[in-house]
Amino acid sequence: TGIFAYLNYKVSRTRKEIFEILVKGLQRLEYRGYDSAGVAVDGNNTEDKERSIQLVKKRGKVKALNEELAKQDEMALETEFETHFGIAHTRWATHGEPNALNSHPQRSNNANEFVVIHNGIITNYKDLKKFLESKGYHFESETDTETIPKLIKYLYDNRESEDVSFTTLVERVVQQLEGAFALVFKSSKFPCEAVATRRGSPLLIGVRSKYKLSTEEIPVLYKTCCSCNILYAKSVAGKSKSSRNDGSTCLHSIGEKKAVEFYFASDASAIIEHTNRVVFLEDDDVAAVVDGQLSIHRVKRSAGEGPVRAIQTLQMELQQIMKGNFSAFMQKEIFEQPESVVNTMRGRVQFETGTVVLGGLKDHLKEIKRCRRLMMIGCGTSYHAAVATRQVLEELTELPVMVELASDFLDRNTPVFRDDVCFFISQSGETADTLMALHYCKNRGALTVGITNTVGSSISRETDCGVHINAGPEIGVASTKAYTSQFVSLCMFGLMMCEDRISMLKRRQEIINGLQSLPDLIKEVLSLDEKIQELAHELFQQRSLLVMGRGYNYATCLEGALKIKEITYMHSEGILAGELKHGPLALIDKQMPVIMILVKDPCYKKCQNALQQVTARQGRPILICSKSDTESMKFAYRTIELPETVDCLQGILSVIPLQLLSFHLAVLRGYDVDCPRNLAKSVTVE
Ligand code: G6P
Repeated sequence: TGIFAYLNYKVSRTRKEIFEILVKGLQRLEYRGYDSAGVAVDGNNTEDKERSIQLVKKRGKVKALNEELAKQDEMALETEFETHFGIAHTRWATHGEPNALNSHPQRSNNANEFVVIHNGIITNYKDLKKFLESKGYHFESETDTETIPKLIKYLYDNRESEDVSFTTLVERVVQQLEGAFALVFKSSKFPCEAVATRRGSPLLIGVRSKYKLSTEEIPVLYKTCCSCNILYAKSVAGKSKSSRNDGSTCLHSIGEKKAVEFYFASDASAIIEHTNRVVFLEDDDVAAVVDGQLSIHRVKRSAGEGPVRAIQTLQMELQQIMKGNFSAFMQKEIFEQPESVVNTMRGRVQFETGTVVLGGLKDHLKEIKRCRRLMMIGCGTSYHAAVATRQVLEELTELPVMVELASDFLDRNTPVFRDDVCFFISQSGETADTLMALHYCKNRGALTVGITNTVGSSISRETDCGVHINAGPEIGVASTKAYTSQFVSLCMFGLMMCEDRISMLKRRQEIINGLQSLPDLIKEVLSLDEKIQELAHELFQQRSLLVMGRGYNYATCLEGALKIKEITYMHSEGILAGELKHGPLALIDKQMPVIMILVKDPCYKKCQNALQQVTARQGRPILICSKSDTESMKFAYRTIELPETVDCLQGILSVIPLQLLSFHLAVLRGYDVDCPRNLAKSVTVE
C-alpha cells in the first residue's frame, strides 16, 4: 500500500492541480499495491472556519480513480485554494476485499470530520471496534483502519476543552494502537492542518519552498503533561496547549508569506519529482503542519533516538524511477544490472590492490570474526540471495552458515545466541517477517547486520551495522537487480572477512577479478535477449516449467522458478539436481519443459549425469550452459550459452536469462509484468 499527501501553504493551486499531484504521487507508489485507491480533499465551502471534506474512492488501479475524479461535476476543478491539504492512498487489501468502501481514506462519520490513510496493520482493531461500537459508532467497512478515524472522533467529542490540538488528539489515538502503521490524518475541524505519524512502517515528509527554510534541523518536542490516556476515562485533569508551534521549534519558509509545500509519502519515489529535501520520521514521531509550520512531537523519549530530525537531501534521481524506453520497470531493472552491480561495488572494492572495505561493517569486523556462526535470514528473492552465497561464505569465512526463511525461522523458535551474527537481507528493508526475525535475534543478544537497498528503512535503522546494496530504486514487483546486488554484497563481505588469510590469497584474487569483469559479462548475457524471447514464444503456452541445477546454481533455480511463477502464473519449480532421482524424475516426459543449468564448476560432472537421466526419459532439456561446452549442447533441445566466470559468481550470470525469460513469458501471456496479481512489492504484514 502507498501513502501520499500534499499540503500547499500560501501557494495557490486549483483543485485540478491538487488532483493531479495526488494522482501522480499514487502512481509512483502503485507498485506497492494497486487494488483500490482514494483521495480526500476540501469541498466547496472554503470560506468557513470548518471546511467540509470530499472523499473519492474507487476499486481498481489509480487510473480508475483518476477517471472517477474527472467525473466529479459538483467539485469545480477550477476552484483555487491558496492553502489546502489533500490525502491519497493506494491499497493492497488485507482486511476486507478491494472495493470503494474498504479503500482509504477511511472516515469518522458521514460528515467526514476525520479522515485517515493507513499503511500497515492494527492488530488490536477488534477490541477498539467493540469499544467504539459500544459508544454508538457505526462501522461501514471491513477494515482494521476504520477504527482509527472513529477513535479520533470519539476523543474529539470527549475532549476536555476546546483548545485540544489536532496533534494531541493523534497522540492520544496512537497510544491506543497496536501493530504497525504509517498514518496521515485530515480533519474538517482543523482545516489546512496535517498530522502524520508512524510506527514500524515508513513515512517521510518532503519540503519545497522558493524561499530559505527556517532550519535544517527540527527539534523534537516532548510532551510535558500526561493527559493522553483518556480513552476510557472521560474527563481528565491537565490541559494541553492548543498549539506548541512557535517559530523556534518548527520548520517553515522565511520568505514572503512563508509560502511552502509539504509532501507526505511512504516512499521517497513519490516525492523526488517535487523536492529532494526530506525528513524521515522515526517510530512514534507525530509530525504536524499548522499554519505552514512543521513541528515534530513525541510523547516519550526512546533509547537511541536523537533530539532533532535533520532535513536530508535525497540522493535519488527522478530518472531512476522512470521507465524510459522500456515497456516495464522490471525490464528496465534487468537491463540496469551492468551498472547496478558497479554501484554496489563502488568505493568498496579496490581492484588494483585487491582490497574490499565495507564501511558499514568495518568497525564490527573483529566481533564478526569471533562469532560462532553466521545466519542469513530473508524472504523470497532475498532468501535466494542467501542460498546463492552460502557456499562462498562458508569457504571464505570458515564459519558455519545457516540460511533461513524468516517465517520458518520464527515458527521454529530457532535457538539464537549472543555469539551469533545474523544477517537480515531485504531489498525494501520493510518486510514484516524479516523485521520480526530481526527483533527476535536482537532480543537474544546476537549481532545484527542489515543488507538492504533502502536507506532509512526499518531494517537498515534497527540493525547494529550493515551494507546498503546501492542498486537504486527497484520498482518492478519481481526483484531482479536487487538480487544480483545482494549477491555481490554478500561476496564482498566474504572477501573482507578473509583479507588476512595467506592461504586464500589466490582464491580472493580470482573472485575479485571476477567481480571486475562482471559488468561486461552481464552485458554479454543481456545480448541474448532476442534469443530468449524466441524461446519464450515456444514456451508461453505451457502450464509448467521445471528449473534444475545444483551447487552454486541451486539458488538460480529457486530464483528463476520464483520469477516465472510470480509474473507468468505458470507452475514452476526449482529442483536441486541432486534430488532428481528422489522424486522429480517422475515428472519428466516428452512434454515437460525442463531448464537445466550446467556450467563448468565443481558440480559439472554431476549435472551432466542429471542431463543424461533427463534425456534418457525423452525429456527435452533447455540448457543454460557455458558457451565452450559444445559437448553438453549435443544433448540439448535448446541452449542458452553463457560466458564463463569464477564458479561462485556464475550464479549472477545464470539468473539473468531466467529473469528475461519470465519477463517475455509474462508479456506473451498478456500479463502486467510490474503488477502481478495477488503480490505486492513490500509485504509489511505477517
Ligand atoms: C515480497 C516480494 C518479493 C520479495 C520479498 C522479500 O514477497 O513480492 O519479490 O522478494 O517480498 O522482499 P524484501 O524487500 O524483504 O527483499
